[in-house]
Amino acid sequence: MVFESENRILEVEAGISILEAAEKFGIPLEHACGGICACTTCRVDVVEGAENLTPVQPTEENLLREVNLTGPFRLGCQARVAGNVKLRIPRA
Ligand code: FES
Repeated sequence: MVFESENRILEVEAGISILEAAEKFGIPLEHACGGICACTTCRVDVVEGAENLTPVQPTEENLLREVNLTGPFRLGCQARVAGNVKLRIPRA
């Protein structure tokens, strides 16, 4: 997993969420709702490797759509890693 915006390359185990990985490696990623898919503060921009993340579920999709975040965005607490991905944490 590459956090492009942080200039960090992380070796993570398959199945870990983006938020869990960020916390494990000390990368600041907001998570106002505590990771229950009720906010969008954990959003990340998927630069490469979207196919290596678990599929978007309806709750995540609806939440992203409500705040007009479509396309490459995923919620860090919902997307789990299954291969190489490159991410960017959007600045507020
Ligand atoms: S932490 Fe709130 S949706 Fe991910």
